[in-house]
Amino acid sequence: MKHTITLIPGDGIGPEVSRAVQKIIEAAGVAIEWEETSARGDIDRRGSDLTQSAALTSIRKNRVALKGPLMTAVAAGPPSINVGLRKALDLYANVRPVKNLLGVQSRYQDVDVVLIRENTEDLYAGLEHEVVPGVVESLKIITERASTRIARFAFEYARKHSRKKIHAIHKANIMKLSDGLFLNSIRKVAPEYPEIEYKELIIDNACMQMVLNPHQFDMLLLTNLYGDIMSDLAAGLVGGLGVVPSGNIGETVALFEAVHGTAPDIAGKGIANPTALLMSAIMMLDHIGELDAARKVEDALHKVYREGKSLTRDVGGTATTAEFTDSVIRTLR
Ligand code: NAI
Repeated sequence: MKHTITLIPGDGIGPEVSRAVQKIIEAAGVAIEWEETSARGDIDRRGSDLTQSAALTSIRKNRVALKGPLMTAVAAGPPSINVGLRKALDLYANVRPVKNLLGVQSRYQDVDVVLIRENTEDLYAGLEHEVVPGVVESLKIITERASTRIARFAFEYARKHSRKKIHAIHKANIMKLSDGLFLNSIRKVAPEYPEIEYKELIIDNACMQMVLNPHQFDMLLLTNLYGDIMSDLAAGLVGGLGVVPSGNIGETVALFEAVHGTAPDIAGKGIANPTALLMSAIMMLDHIGELDAARKVEDALHKVYREGKSLTRDVGGTATTAEFTDSVIRTLR
């Protein structure tokens, strides 16, 4: 079966790692027609009329997208197009599996945690304003609807993937209303899944516990900002952002992307590591039902890492993007 999938190569190292992933998926024998859209025009008008953009039209039609990183200005400029896409497509669940890749130097081995992050509200609602000069207000939006929806997603995910335990992460001791509503919404859903152990942990303690002993966690369920921070923290425990994937899932549409950014310091040098985007593409293959191809690519990737001969610099090797890519393809075959 031929799949049509939207591809947003992105900025910086985005196009380099996207090409590498396209080559590997093609070598795995999956028939994909990539509908490429630069999102460049969208970037210029992000925040204004994103709903009419070519990228959104393509993703809505194809229902699946693979995306490279997009640059966002810090402390000024228009809002993030990454956040804009998630909101416009209602990609409400951000799924970030964090697992060791054998062969990558890291603080811990045998970590296996899945973070489920609410993706559409919280402080990412982008509702900021200046009250009077020198005083700004940033609104943290939490709704019962979004909290219940993400809770149900997390428990369903646990059931489907035979996960045993979910920790809801919060700061409801201080933000009694907002984080309180998040927790109360989850508490109403949890009893419907008696086979899954449900626990709660305050965010600061959760960070410490994660660094001390990540093996105690199976799945974490978080609001948008805590999810963003804790998933990078978790990535740091298994070797960094270069080796963790993510999927943004909605009711009808899914968008898969690496967690890292555009890496402007190494863009154009041919040394970027495509692993994170490749792992995101493996999640995408699972999502579209190409399970055999997903396992084939995953096995080849793991073998290349175990052998350790053609790894890129960020994970301690000397290989270029092209050499790493060729090595995965040779192993596949
Ligand atoms: P970054 O992830 O781009 O880079 C951090 C460090 O990791 C750099 O030293 C970089 O060379 C290295 N690195 C990242 N990915 C790599 C890869 N695949 N292979 C080898 N080395 C890699 O983070 P930074 O510098 O904070 O952000 C740069 C830009 O990316 C910003 O404009 C930011 O807004 C954007 N960004 C976009 C994201 C997205 O589109 N989802 C996510 C994160 C950041």
